[in-house]
Amino acid sequence: MSDAKSSSSPDPAAANAMWGGRFAAAPSDAMQAINASIDIDQRLWRQDIQASKAHAAMLAAQGILTTEDEEKIQAGLDQIAAEIADGRLAMRRELEDIHLNIEHRLTEIAGDAGRRLHTARSRNDQVATDFRLWTAAALDGAMEKIDRLQRALVAQAEAHADWAMPGFTHLQTAQPITLGHHLMAYVEMSERDRTRLLQAKATTLGDCPLGAAALAGTGFPIDRERTAAMLDFTQPAANSIDAVSARDFALEALSALAIALMHASRLAEEIVLWTSPHFRFARLADAWSTGSSIMPQKRNPDAAELIRAKAARVSANYAALLGIMKALPLAYAKDLQEDKALAFESFDAFALSFDALAGMIETITFDKRALRAAAGAGFSTATDLADWLVRELKTPFRDAHHVAGRAVKRAEELGLSELGDLPLSELQAIEPRITEAARALLGVEQSLESRASYGGTAPARVREQIARWKEQLG
Ligand code: ARG
Repeated sequence: MSDAKSSSSPDPAAANAMWGGRFAAAPSDAMQAINASIDIDQRLWRQDIQASKAHAAMLAAQGILTTEDEEKIQAGLDQIAAEIADGRLAMRRELEDIHLNIEHRLTEIAGDAGRRLHTARSRNDQVATDFRLWTAAALDGAMEKIDRLQRALVAQAEAHADWAMPGFTHLQTAQPITLGHHLMAYVEMSERDRTRLLQAKATTLGDCPLGAAALAGTGFPIDRERTAAMLDFTQPAANSIDAVSARDFALEALSALAIALMHASRLAEEIVLWTSPHFRFARLADAWSTGSSIMPQKRNPDAAELIRAKAARVSANYAALLGIMKALPLAYAKDLQEDKALAFESFDAFALSFDALAGMIETITFDKRALRAAAGAGFSTATDLADWLVRELKTPFRDAHHVAGRAVKRAEELGLSELGDLPLSELQAIEPRITEAARALLGVEQSLESRASYGGTAPARVREQIARWKEQLG
């Protein structure tokens, strides 16, 4: 990166390389510092070259550029792509952004032909096009990350389809569930996340801004259908003002990322809880644990904690872009330049978080005994007793709830660990019609088997769900 100080530049036109004709003085250092986006948007170089190649091909096909000029431009852009890929092209901050850096280099290589590339376009439609192309590719990457997590979850769910664990509401023991069922809940969430990303991609590659020029379109006889098709868009944007000022595709992408990371953060939070020595439900692999510099016994779930924090940052990025957009008059304003840093950071945080989450889930191990003990603790089968009273004795549910509540109280007084341990005589002291068959239903395993409604926690149901998912993921 060249650090040429604009204030010491003898030639203002060199600092204002692309519009020196209009200006007598170079920009101040702070002006250049706030304005230049090259440090951020150089990540768009592939898309910028791709869109420029399509634009040049279209200009030539329309007779706006000569074939000779077009060939020089195509060869020059290919050369620049190779230079950037090899790290041989130093980006210059005085050239502001990736678009001007590439165009400037092109004029060095191709002379006047390079200077003709910007015919019938503006950086406004150019950046909107590049950013859409980048976002679409990034969304594909994000969907792949979700796929990996889903596979890891399904594999763990299959291995633990019938392992009992406590299901919580209010983080209080509610009813026994299976670990497989719990893990599969995240597969369902992730699938909705994937669908949102897919929808965001459809929006992103819907309208092609290229050819909208600064905002009003152009007097040149361009073919916007052609460039849209070359770049894999559905259609050219139908309104040139909307084309250059719309960023709702990016908002849609960021909101989809933020929601998916919110789900990831919930799973991360459960990893933190489950691996705590107070739960002892699970243990992270060494590769996913960190030690403490002072306390030798510690195995910290740092990656899970960082995923919680990344989720906060990405949702803040979404809020930031929404804030940037909401009071902008049409059409382009430089505020829009800040969109890319927010998107890049969000996609990076997403990728890192999902890699870590999938890695943790693939290698986490569960403690069957701790899970089973916790599943029955807290008298988690009290609802099963109430349900039996309703089913067999036709007791109204409210009354049944009361009877089961007294059974819980008695079990607590006797210091029992599970409701299933309460002797029949104790149950009959509360409700004489309770039978041994009812008492037998209060075991954790029986409770699990009984919840066989569609989507319920019964191992048979969970196995069906897993089988469906294995087929779907292929
Ligand atoms: N670097 C700019 C951006 O990211 C490119 C568009 C500049 N357009 C302009 N009218 N100054 O938004």
